[in-house]
Amino acid sequence: MIEFGRGRQNIMKDALVIRINLVVIALFFIVHVTFLLLSSSSIYYENASSLLSCSERECHHKVDNGVKIMMKSVLEETKGNIPRLKGSMSKIEVPSFLNGTMGKGMMKFAMVNMDEYDLSEWDKLGKTIPIHFNHISDNIKWDDLFPTWIDEEEESDVPTCPKIPMLNIQIYEKMDMVVAKLPCKYPEEGWRREVFRLQVHLIVANLAVRRGKRDGNRKTTKMLFWSKCRPMLEIFRCDDLVRQEGNWWLFEPDMARLRQKVSLPIGTCNLALPFWGQQGMLPNYDHIVSSFIFSRQNHFSLLSAVCKFDENLITVTVYDLAKIQGTTNKPKREAYVTVLHSSDSYVCGAITLAKSLLQTGTKRDLVLLLDNSISAPKRDALSDAGWKLHVIERIRNPRAKKGTYNEYNYSKFRLWQLIEYDKIVFIDADIIVLRNLDLLFHFPQMSAISNSGYLFNSGIMVIEPSNCTFKFLMDHRDDIVSNNGGDQGYLNEVFVWWHRVLKKVNAMTYFPANRTNNTTIQDKQFGADPPKIFAIHYLGWKPWLCYRDYDCNWDTKGRHVFASDVAHERWWRVHDTVEEGLQRFCGLTKQRKDYLDSTRSEARKLGFPDEHWKINITDPRQHHLVA
Ligand SMILES: *[C@@H]1O[C@H](CO)[C@@H](O)[C@H](O)[C@H]1NC(C)=O
Ligand SMILES: *[C@@H]1O[C@H](CO)[C@@H](O)[C@H](O)[C@H]1NC(C)=O
Ligand SMILES: *[C@@H]1O[C@H](CO)[C@@H](O)[C@H](O)[C@H]1NC(C)=O
Ligand SMILES: *[C@@H]1O[C@H](CO)[C@@H](O)[C@H](O)[C@H]1NC(C)=O
Ligand SMILES: *[C@@H]1O[C@H](CO)[C@@H](O)[C@H](O)[C@H]1NC(C)=O
Ligand SMILES: *[C@@H]1O[C@H](CO)[C@@H](O)[C@H](O)[C@H]1NC(C)=O
Ligand SMILES: *[C@@H]1O[C@H](CO)[C@@H](O)[C@H](O)[C@H]1NC(C)=O
Repeated sequence: MIEFGRGRQNIMKDALVIRINLVVIALFFIVHVTFLLLSSSSIYYENASSLLSCSERECHHKVDNGVKIMMKSVLEETKGNIPRLKGSMSKIEVPSFLNGTMGKGMMKFAMVNMDEYDLSEWDKLGKTIPIHFNHISDNIKWDDLFPTWIDEEEESDVPTCPKIPMLNIQIYEKMDMVVAKLPCKYPEEGWRREVFRLQVHLIVANLAVRRGKRDGNRKTTKMLFWSKCRPMLEIFRCDDLVRQEGNWWLFEPDMARLRQKVSLPIGTCNLALPFWGQQGMLPNYDHIVSSFIFSRQNHFSLLSAVCKFDENLITVTVYDLAKIQGTTNKPKREAYVTVLHSSDSYVCGAITLAKSLLQTGTKRDLVLLLDNSISAPKRDALSDAGWKLHVIERIRNPRAKKGTYNEYNYSKFRLWQLIEYDKIVFIDADIIVLRNLDLLFHFPQMSAISNSGYLFNSGIMVIEPSNCTFKFLMDHRDDIVSNNGGDQGYLNEVFVWWHRVLKKVNAMTYFPANRTNNTTIQDKQFGADPPKIFAIHYLGWKPWLCYRDYDCNWDTKGRHVFASDVAHERWWRVHDTVEEGLQRFCGLTKQRKDYLDSTRSEARKLGFPDEHWKINITDPRQHHLVA
């Protein structure tokens, strides 16, 4: 019932697009006439027209949203267009390293957000080209770009995103270097979730990708930033930084990666790629994605009549498979990776995860990072299960209290040291995979599902290993504060601009609705056969820590939100396909059995209405306890 056939989805979209067209045309006229009547001030007129522009990604804007954003911006937008007096301008020194590396007098510099500075120094080095764009409305906040929930399946709505004004890229000539001043309120207010900062980053990236000059066969546009804080690591990669001097940062980006970045949605108010209507995502996903591009383009041509009004139109092909593949279709230096450290309580989980991954038919390496808390027999078992083992030294969170459960959670940073791989998909050991996830390797770092607000969940994430990123993560352990004391909170402060993948990629056993039976839609999704979701992430007590008869999260009031017999049963189904010799690593200890029995009798005493405590335990593990 969740999945639409592709045909139906298209019909729905066509209808939607046509409806939006009419409304957008109507809006255009209203706004146009209003502004002609009110004033001929170019500021307002430009802003109004920028609001009516439609890029491919925002042509799907919901109408009421459009109106809301428009009102906001029209009332607000003034910055960035205020003319300044030449005499009062301050100089911004040219970095000394530009002298040696550049051919003098020939360079063309695009100057972004530099209009308040005297550029006469730069004119000596070459030609400066001021770049004009409208400052994004102050009313648009980071939360608007990174909402917790979007209608991913497009069941009743098409996810939309507030527009970040871009620029009319076609009017600019080719250039050798983009120079930009990045806003940075550091240290007073912090900088990491500032939309104007993001806007400047995206403008620079778009200019570099689309107006950069070729240097022989190699297309590289250099980018030079003036900023007190480091340019966003998510867009301008650590490995691409070639020089730094004072507040100057010089990047020579990997253009394929940057192109992919600018082709993705600006926030997570849209999915990084649509997955809908697919049964087995691989092996024939190429066909599915191509047909999707085709249908998007149809819509786009339908809309061009409206779009041509717009001066600020930027046409980015959002979902261009060729471009996405261009970055990753080389020999597969790619792997699924999980991490075990500090205790061996997830060994059974990792064995089962390996089995579930192998069952999806993936040919990627399975890599396990583990520390010395895992005994030799357990290491052998993990290796037999299919993992390539890498022994690591765990990493302490210097801010954690000694002896707390998350003291060493920064061990996940070791993922970035796996530089023998270009890309890895990290998967927590309390997850099982039901459908092939190889498509994730086409996504850039950082891609993940939404957790809450603008935060992603670090249970499954796409990572690009890099010594330099690893060093960055290590170097900032003292000054970046993790909101939850774990790696997830930390990584969310580093990778604030991330890409949303379908929630079904990392479906969590979390059921906030009051329920006692497995009758919710979520339960049904977990149970569907063939599977509809890609992976189940077990929160609360893990299945191997319960009797197999039922989900022991039912026995504790506070854990009911995690309880699902359907999900529990699904895990055990995978477990039962694991070789018998490896299944014994999933045994119960005496201590665990005592705990289960005591919570069961507690639940009986309290008479929980779900009545799981009534179930007679048949799990043979109760008779074969392990040490
Ligand atoms: C660049 O080099 C010229 C001479 O080669 C020198 O006069 C000028 O001061 C240098 N500029 C900077 C910013 O170092
Ligand atoms: C990355 O670091 C490792 C040691 O930590 C080193 O052996 C390797 O050469 C480095 N690789 C690159 C590309 O810098
Ligand atoms: C820290 O790691 C442990 C496993 O070592 C895990 O159970 C816990 O959820 C993690 N905590 C956070 C806050 O990520
Ligand atoms: C949940 O539902 C049951 C019956 O449907 C009701 O007795 C109970 O009070 C509800 N609990 C909460 C927290 O709403
Ligand atoms: C749960 O399922 C049982 C058996 O199907 C039924 O008797 C009971 O009423 C259900 N409880 C709720 C709250 O739906
Ligand atoms: C809940 O799910 C389990 C496992 O799929 C099934 O055996 C049981 O009958 C279901 N209960 C209800 C009330 O649907
Ligand atoms: C559990 O077993 C006892 C005795 O073996 C039996 O009386 C009871 O009916 C069983 N309960 C269920 C729910 O099957």
